[in-house]
Amino acid sequence: MNSYWQPDIETAAPDTLRAMQLQALRRTLAQAAQSPYYGELFRRLNFSPEQIRTRDDLRRLPFTTKDDLRGHFPYGFLAVPKAETIRLHCSSGTTGNPTVIFHNRHDLDSWANLVARSMYCAGARPDDVFQNICGYGLFTGGLGFQYGAERLGALTIPAGAGNSRRQIKLMQEFGTTVIHAIPSYLPRLREVFTELGLAPAKDTRLRVILSGAEPYTEETRRRLEAMFAPAKVFNSFGLTEMNGPGVAFECDCQNGLHVWEDAYLTEIVNPDTLEPVPDGELGELVFTSLDRQAMPILRYRTRDLTRFLTGPCPCGRTHRRLDRITGRSDDMFIIKGCNVFPMQIEQVLMRIPQAASDYLIVLETLGDNDELILQVEAHPEWFNGDFSKLEHVRQRIVREIHDEVLVTPIVQLVEPGSLPRAEGKAKRVDDRRRNGKTDF
Ligand code: COA
Ligand code: AMP
Ligand code: ZN
Repeated sequence: MNSYWQPDIETAAPDTLRAMQLQALRRTLAQAAQSPYYGELFRRLNFSPEQIRTRDDLRRLPFTTKDDLRGHFPYGFLAVPKAETIRLHCSSGTTGNPTVIFHNRHDLDSWANLVARSMYCAGARPDDVFQNICGYGLFTGGLGFQYGAERLGALTIPAGAGNSRRQIKLMQEFGTTVIHAIPSYLPRLREVFTELGLAPAKDTRLRVILSGAEPYTEETRRRLEAMFAPAKVFNSFGLTEMNGPGVAFECDCQNGLHVWEDAYLTEIVNPDTLEPVPDGELGELVFTSLDRQAMPILRYRTRDLTRFLTGPCPCGRTHRRLDRITGRSDDMFIIKGCNVFPMQIEQVLMRIPQAASDYLIVLETLGDNDELILQVEAHPEWFNGDFSKLEHVRQRIVREIHDEVLVTPIVQLVEPGSLPRAEGKAKRVDDRRRNGKTDF
């Protein structure tokens, strides 16, 4: 039996699926108890995994947050001996420590299966040529899709991000049929096709585009499909804390993302009251991993806002569907596929004496690229009306922001006191991008 299409799991009757989840949940809780963090929490709450009779009993445990993960950096959540772990991935933290997730061999095997299943679900097949146009290294989209595509059996091109001309050359030379890239990069890629006097339909064999890692609308999907016709665009959702890609994926009905319920227990809660919301209502996604050994995470608050879609999917898969992510319940934004918290920018500026504490982040689509424009007030003590004297400061800000968030910002120093002042909490982000807005 292959691991990318398992009808007994993917089309299991809801009751069977619930029973599978309960069993996996018990296993996960017993495993989590081995970690310093959950071991101590369970002792404090006088909780033992055997007390779980239904999935709802999980609600007796508190949520886990990014701050909990960062606060117990690096090994506080590790539930196996360190020698058993074989890889880690990181995602950005608000400030200071990143979030680190450890995997053992079982975890990586399980993750590869989930990504292979996701790719198959969106129409990729073993005889496809898959090009992964995404950052490798600590980003999960690189190695995550790499191993998933290999598990599927596709010929895989680990192209990485950037260098659009070379991407197109690779697509032509090897007859790429499936790509993975973030939605805001696709217009840039299409523009370079035009610059080269080429068109995807006539000069490539592209038929499936897997795209996610940042929010985009249905209208954007249709616009991208028009640019790359006849290829279809499928939404891919995941987060580092739950492995990365392969948490929820669209099937060829393109009507929401099937969340893989044998691997993730999903709750949607009101972000203020933290009570569950009825199906169909918007709330914050909360996940419990069900098939991870090195670092199980229970009731993780993702901060992503979405809803469950109701009704069966014509594809026959029974795993419930999530609507697109419509925003976040915190101030994180995503630019060029990199997650950024305004606090990270603030911390960099605090190290630079010539920069005052007032700044504004403008996210703007310039041509076909999304850019991070950072307006910073010069400190009055260092400013004599001549910005050219502060050019070295501007360059230092560019360098240090890039090192922190991995995106090269456009930095503009402005006169002291010139940025708009707000009553109460300062507005730090002005999102003027064409797609992929994060509303908060
Ligand atoms: N994916 C692929 N290529 C991207 C990209 C993205 N998310 N964002 C920008 N690019 C391309 C640009 O088009 C440019 O190539 P081109 O001029 O040949 O078209 C090149 O990368 C450099 O872009 P630029 O905007 O000048 O660089 P930067 O210094 O601001 O950003 C990146 C550098 C793109 C390498 C960095 O933002 C990154 O690694 N992004 C990828 C993150 C990612 O893949 N996340 C998904 C995880 S699932
Ligand atoms: P990372 O941990 O770096 O992979 O980032 C995970 C975050 O990216 C999620 O919590 C979401 O905010 C965002 N994200 C991932 N996939 C999507 C998607 N398909 N639509 C909207 N946002 C997404
Ligand atoms: Zn479906």
